[in-house]
Amino acid sequence: MEFKGLLLAGGKGTRLRPLTHTRAKQLIPIAGKPNLFYALEDLLEAGIRDIGVILSPETGDEVRSALGDGSHWGVKLTYIVQEAPLGIAHAVRTAQDFLADSPFVLYLGDNLLSGGIQHLVEEYRQTRPEAIVLLTPVEDPRAFGVVVLDQAGQVVQLLEKPKEPPSNLALVGVYLFSPKIHPIIQRLKPSSRGEYEITEAIQGLVDAGLRVVAHQVRGWWKDTGKPEDLLDANRLALTSVVRRVEGVLEEAQVVGEVVIEPGARLVRSTVRGPAYVGAGALIEDSFIGPYTAIGKGARVIASEVEYSILMDEAQVHALPYRLDSSILGQGVVVDGQGHARRHTLELVLGDRSRVRL
Ligand code: TTP
Repeated sequence: MEFKGLLLAGGKGTRLRPLTHTRAKQLIPIAGKPNLFYALEDLLEAGIRDIGVILSPETGDEVRSALGDGSHWGVKLTYIVQEAPLGIAHAVRTAQDFLADSPFVLYLGDNLLSGGIQHLVEEYRQTRPEAIVLLTPVEDPRAFGVVVLDQAGQVVQLLEKPKEPPSNLALVGVYLFSPKIHPIIQRLKPSSRGEYEITEAIQGLVDAGLRVVAHQVRGWWKDTGKPEDLLDANRLALTSVVRRVEGVLEEAQVVGEVVIEPGARLVRSTVRGPAYVGAGALIEDSFIGPYTAIGKGARVIASEVEYSILMDEAQVHALPYRLDSSILGQGVVVDGQGHARRHTLELVLGDRSRVRL
């Protein structure tokens, strides 16, 4: 029984604008690595090497060039364009020829799971249910697919973004399915928000008396749909960073779990981990605080940055504020011109923005 993987890298990404005006949200770096790579590596770790990737017409080329032919990971990738973002179940339907009669893992490309999926694939192989879904308790379930379990822990009902949630158990964006999901998806109608809902397809399995197993996630899970989620995912991913200092330090200090990639230079600066500094970055007369990831070739000069993501080639100069809880897109320039220090600054800037303070 060969498992396949289906990575979803389409969608609109409206909640992450302006970052998603210029890039696929699944390629936003989390602790120095595109979100989508974590998902792919989870599939790989579970022994899945035949992987379909759903693309949107807008960002498809960018995703293709980031993943290439998969040989870097030793996987076979099949790219499948979904002409319009008509829902998760629609993405599965678009990939039906690729998935054929294999069981598969459906992995939303903007989700991160600390525990991986190996144990789930193993369980599926041994017990052969029609689906395994993952759940996690959330504070406000109205923004999620919500699941109701009976006393024995069996799934009895699934609801997409209910106004009055009957439970606080949200569906996580990683699912294992048997091919029995396909005919159910074929019969789905669009929901009131105009999407083909995967929750309705799973409800179809339950209604047909087929076995749907639910587990709570091990470790942490993050859906990086909004800017604050990206920062939190970055924080969580950085907590498992192991110290590796390969760049050049000149009168600089590196404290704790920090990665400094080759070609990065730290001059008269302190980096306090957990933190990540990408290849070729320059940190000069600056302080980089915990939970910060600095992209390749970025520059931080005479500034303080904490709990933030700076993408490749972003630049921060002489900031009078501490940059905090901020996301700077690729090539962004923020120039503080060295005025007297005041409070903190929180920014979400799309690629190539320019800010002079
Ligand atoms: P969502 O975050 O639910 O949707 P979205 O990407 O359109 O974002 P927003 O709500 O901010 O507009 O999508 C979850 C994941 O699934 C994400 O990685 C995009 C992907 N996706 C598809 O590939 N095809 C689709 O039709 C949809 C709806 C999502």
